[in-house]
Amino acid sequence: MNFKITLLPGDGIGPEVVAEAVRILDYIASKYNHTFEYKERLMGGCSIDKYGSSLTDETLADCQSADAVLLGAVGGPKWDNPSAKDRPERGLLALRKGLGVFANLRPVKVHPSLMEWSPLKPEKLQGVDILVVRELTGGLYFGWPKGRDNKDGRERAVDTLEYYDYEIRRVMDLAFKLAKGRKKKVTSVDKANVLESSRLWRQIATKVGAENADVELDHMLVDTASMRLITGPVWMDVVVTENMFGDILTDEASVLAGSMGMLPSASLGASGAGLYEPIHGSAPDIAGKGIANPTGTILSSAMMLRHSFGMEAEAAAIEKAVDTTITNGARTADIGGQLSTRQMADEIIKNF
Ligand code: IPM
Ligand code: MG
Repeated sequence: MNFKITLLPGDGIGPEVVAEAVRILDYIASKYNHTFEYKERLMGGCSIDKYGSSLTDETLADCQSADAVLLGAVGGPKWDNPSAKDRPERGLLALRKGLGVFANLRPVKVHPSLMEWSPLKPEKLQGVDILVVRELTGGLYFGWPKGRDNKDGRERAVDTLEYYDYEIRRVMDLAFKLAKGRKKKVTSVDKANVLESSRLWRQIATKVGAENADVELDHMLVDTASMRLITGPVWMDVVVTENMFGDILTDEASVLAGSMGMLPSASLGASGAGLYEPIHGSAPDIAGKGIANPTGTILSSAMMLRHSFGMEAEAAAIEKAVDTTITNGARTADIGGQLSTRQMADEIIKNF
């Protein structure tokens, strides 16, 4: 099969990890007789430097017309000026919105041999296998009004937490669908004791839960959920939550796996290109050194094969090769080893 992939390596370590994921994809293409056509574009700080915009219309169009988008990371101290008109992160948010990818899937699994790298005790980590489904194109990130003004002689800043019923419905439907292929358990996380938007969230979760009686649904307040992630993560299966709560909870959940460098993500819409990216950032402190862990990006490319191209066997082959590689003790610096980014990918390729 033939698929078009737009590559957005981005800033910092982004280009280094994306290059290795492309090597893995090329390996899969030759082994399984597929053709992947790549188009590489700038997005984030590098695009601000070259075009004066974190995401140009042309780049967005190249992403929209692709079958999938593979992103490295964006951002860095160079573009951190709070009064700047554009920021790398704006490009990422505009890309998510422009692709209509309303659901961000962040699986968190703990490899037994990496448990020592997690701050939690191994007995708490045994069997942890969580899929966070984060709403990605609504809530505080996009709500209107937003901005700064002067009111009654005071400087004021406003963000709006807004959700329409259909925005909650579609991400909830997807969470339940995904739960059916797992342990059939959904935890809907909200702040319904305080927020009106969370009361709507809970109402719709309850309705979708009633329509999917084979899936167990529970509701959890976000403060409780943040605690449970640490005290009893093994009881969580699919966790579905709004944009900002999901942003915070997924960083928290990522430490369970020992290193953020291990974790992938997929952002999906109703149709069109999916967006795939590791959950780590651009890591400016190690950028250019060739020591970043490419695993999160490589596993993101596996999610791309599964969710956008329907290649389950190929996706599973990548995941298995990664698993074997970690079991065999191959390690980049973030998980206590000395392999370079390239060498880590070499090990994964050897283990297919
Ligand atoms: C993430 C990141 C982004 C977000 C930033 C870079 C805008 O933290 O993907 O979790 O907040 O969504
Ligand atoms: Mg985040």
